[in-house]
Amino acid sequence: MRLWLMSDVHLELTKGWDLPPPAQRPDFDVLVMAGDLVPRMERGVRWLLERVPDKAAIYVAGNHEFYGTDEARTVEKAMQAAAGTNVHVLQNRSVTLEDRAGSVTFAGATLWTDFHLHGDQRRAMAAAADRMNDFRKIRTGGYRRRFRPSDALLCHQQSRAFLEAEMRRPRGDGHRLVAVTHHAPVRARCFSGEDETLEPAFRSDLTWLMRPQPAEEGKGALRPADLWCFGHTHESYDARVGENTRVMANCKGYGPWPPAEPTWDNPDFDPHLVIEV
Ligand SMILES: [Fe+2]
Ligand SMILES: [Fe+2]
Repeated sequence: MRLWLMSDVHLELTKGWDLPPPAQRPDFDVLVMAGDLVPRMERGVRWLLERVPDKAAIYVAGNHEFYGTDEARTVEKAMQAAAGTNVHVLQNRSVTLEDRAGSVTFAGATLWTDFHLHGDQRRAMAAAADRMNDFRKIRTGGYRRRFRPSDALLCHQQSRAFLEAEMRRPRGDGHRLVAVTHHAPVRARCFSGEDETLEPAFRSDLTWLMRPQPAEEGKGALRPADLWCFGHTHESYDARVGENTRVMANCKGYGPWPPAEPTWDNPDFDPHLVIEV
């Protein structure tokens, strides 16, 4: 199955960028959009339906999908907008698509983070609360209150448990598993310009989910995902991690802003990137 991967398109902070027209697109079977397409996820669903009406799309919410809205409500609206279409909104949900070689299960979630990357979770959560728009611009509890780092941590724990359960679900040899998250499941390969204090708000080290683990009481053996796609860090990433999980990101980031040069945050962003699983 050929996956056309991208994320962090940021329509709200972009002028004049769009998907290539159909004749200039790569050959693909499924478009994977790993979050930060546009605030209010239901708008992102409509954007995808207009542009990719005839192929499947996997759509995971980034933190920006929640801006100006309630984090649970916008996912509900997105799922309503996507119902009965080929756009699959995945928030702690999976969908299985078939191709000639068998089945591919996509397990998706925003993921958020455990704030534990540098070992001092409390400090990382305080820095994030103080300095990140995520904890000013997102509502929760039916719009009643601000989304806080403790909410992000809870979401992360739920999504991590969901992903682990998907990896422990028995699947046959040809049955591939693709995890799609917005936040990163790996440490940075090198310092990428992010503020180091805020790095734990972007990434968690989930490489333990990329190594096989034996069955435990009531749980099957863990077979890691074949591919793990992420976004959020506005970088390109491609590495084999753990046993044999390919971990990839293809983020565009903010921009372009005409009439300046048509550039964006990540100069390595490839709008034609296709991965075979
Ligand atoms: Fe982003
Ligand atoms: Fe993001």
